Amino acid sequence: MSTENRHLTIAIDGTSGSGKSTAAKNLASVLGIEYIDTGAMYRAAAYKALKENVPVDDDHAVGDMLSETEIDFVRGRILLDGEDISDRIRTLEISHAASKISQLASCRAKLVEIQRRIASQKSVVMDGRDIGTNVLPGASHKFYVTASLETRAERRLAELLEKGEQTTYEEVLEDLKARDHSDMTRKLNPLVRAEDAIDISTDECDIEGTLQCLLQHIGVNYAG
Ligand code: DC
Repeated sequence: MSTENRHLTIAIDGTSGSGKSTAAKNLASVLGIEYIDTGAMYRAAAYKALKENVPVDDDHAVGDMLSETEIDFVRGRILLDGEDISDRIRTLEISHAASKISQLASCRAKLVEIQRRIASQKSVVMDGRDIGTNVLPGASHKFYVTASLETRAERRLAELLEKGEQTTYEEVLEDLKARDHSDMTRKLNPLVRAEDAIDISTDECDIEGTLQCLLQHIGVNYAG
């Protein structure tokens, strides 16, 4: 099956650290289409709120802030009011704030609108928590990516240590547990598997294996 001339909207949802972002990025690269990391958009909103001392649990104040904020993606980089902040949003502090701000109706409404607009204009691989269920319920393909809590904690720890963050396995494990809980139980658009999503477990699959698995489901042959 060829993907040329098809408007592809590929939704990849899953828990923090499941490997969905790596899988989504690789998939977009092989297919030659845009990768949209919606988590980075919530992180960008949190980054701005922290910078401007806007409480990340104040729906009204965050709504006001976002009404004068531009968040966009250009070639895989996240732009906040035109500035590339991609390298500043992967800290534990921003993770906590993003988890909080993503619970607000004003924030979700604004970011979901941007996400839908992008996906209507071009083929995308979009990853997040509510893509298959809420942002793009009519997506051409939907995947739900998971891995055990322990595997995810090990991966996230390695990532953070590499970036020079001071943290421990226990701290990362507790953080992931808390974020899973908040992502899955929040009132608005919680993380749930879309009924028509294909399950992908990355516990026993390396990066290449996961990519091949996704491509197979989409109907693309790729030798690597
Ligand atoms: O994927 P991530 O860790 O970068 O996401 C950051 C936060 O944003 C996380 O707490 C979940 C939230 N999020 C969300 O609520 N909806 C999405 N579509 C993507 C992320």
